[in-house]
This record gives sequence, C-alpha cells and structure tokens, in this order.
Amino acid sequence: MKDYDFDTTPPATRYKLLIATVVPRPIALVTTIDAQGRVNAAPFSFFNVLSHDPAVIALGIERRADGRPKDTVANIDANGECVVNLVDEAMAPAMVVCGADVEPGIDELVLAGLHAAPSLRVAPPRIAEAPVALECRLLRDVRLGEGNARAILLAEVVALRVRDDLVGANDRIDVARTGIVGRLAGSDYVRLSDVFSIPRIAAEDALKRRSPA
Ligand SMILES: Cc1cc2nc3c(=O)[nH]c(=O)nc-3n(C[C@H](O)[C@H](O)[C@H](O)COP(=O)(O)O)c2cc1C
Repeated sequence: MKDYDFDTTPPATRYKLLIATVVPRPIALVTTIDAQGRVNAAPFSFFNVLSHDPAVIALGIERRADGRPKDTVANIDANGECVVNLVDEAMAPAMVVCGADVEPGIDELVLAGLHAAPSLRVAPPRIAEAPVALECRLLRDVRLGEGNARAILLAEVVALRVRDDLVGANDRIDVARTGIVGRLAGSDYVRLSDVFSIPRIAAEDALKRRSPA
C-alpha cells in the first residue's frame, strides 16, 4: 500500500486523493435565495444523505479563494432554506456553468439556461429540468478547519419532488431511468448505466458461512 498520513499530507493532496477515491459522489445542484429574493445556484459533490428519520442531508462547502463565503452558505445562513436538485446527464453541462465563481446576486440559472419552478414548502425555487428536488431547511452549520473556513451544513429534507414518469407502484423509483450522474475527480462524471444486484443476507445465513472450529 502507498500510505498517506494526513497529519503530513498537504490539503491540496488530500483533496486530490479523496475526490479520486470516494467515488462516485452525488451532485447537489443547490438553489437558494438572497435577502433581495435573487436566485443562486451552485453544484456541490461533498454531498450525501445521512439519515431518513429525520431526513438529513449534508453539504461540505469551502470559502471562495479570496476568503469570502460562497453565496450558497451566505444565503442558507441568512434564511435557512435551500433546494437540492439532483443532476441528470442532460443537465450536467448546465450544472458546470452554475459552478463558475460569479459574484453574489448573479442568477446562475439564467447563465446556464435552466429554469426556476416554485417549491412546495420552501422559498427557494427548484430547477424545472431536474428529475428530483429535495426541499431543505438548515439544522446546523458546523464550522471546521482553519479560521472555521469549512462549512458542513446539515439540513432536513421537508419535501421531495420527483418527475412523475420515474415513480412506479408503491413509490418505487426507477433509479437507472432517473439518468442521475455522479462525480469522479476533475472533470469526470459517471452514468448509472452499469447496475448490478446482490441480495441482502440474513444474519443467520451469514453465520452459517463460519468455518467449523
Ligand atoms: C461538479 C462540481 C462539484 C463541486 N463540489 C463542490 C463542493 O463539494 N464544495 C465546494 O465548496 N465547492 C464545490 N464546487 C465548486 C462550487 O460549485 C463553486 O465554487 C460555485 O461557484 C459556488 O457558488 P456560490 O458562490 O454561488 O455558492 C463544485 C463544482 C462542480 C462543478
């Protein structure tokens, strides 16, 4: 094994190693609004769902290169609400446009050619083109790292919207048909087109596999 002790591994190397090994990561294309009601959209792949009861998602957001907070953090800290839009392949190029570090107050949805649609339970809009949208309220903004630069936002999902054609009987979602993409390292992404299944195993069946003493 090649070993990296993170006490002596520079942050830029840690980043390179982590994003190339913890893969694929889902992408949250997060919509928020500022105090003037202006819409902001930005993608984050330090993102996942952590729990379903309560339903909690996490976002890991660093500061801008010049030390100012990213608009997403500033907006969520101010009004506590966001929508996590999941990204399919058709939206992926527009998602990358939303990742450009533009100044506060500029609506990235307009730059990207995406469209806002009203949410059910929160003020920020969802993205009309997204196959799935999670409407969220901030639970905690956990600050870590030097100068508390890293924001780990924990948010509760208060509503989930999913495109009609993706939901079958008993609320079963056709995962592969969502077309949702994952992020690898750098500019690389992955499709859900190579799915395989392994049934779960009961504890008693797992224990039968123990070799006799
Ligand atoms: C696919 C992708 C994933 C990204 N993931 C993150 C992330 O997890 N954390 C982060 O701080 N920035 C991430 N970024 C960069 C932000 O999207 C970028 O800094 C954006 O301009 C922030 O916008 P805002 O200031 O409007 O919030 C990512 C960018 C892309 C394209």
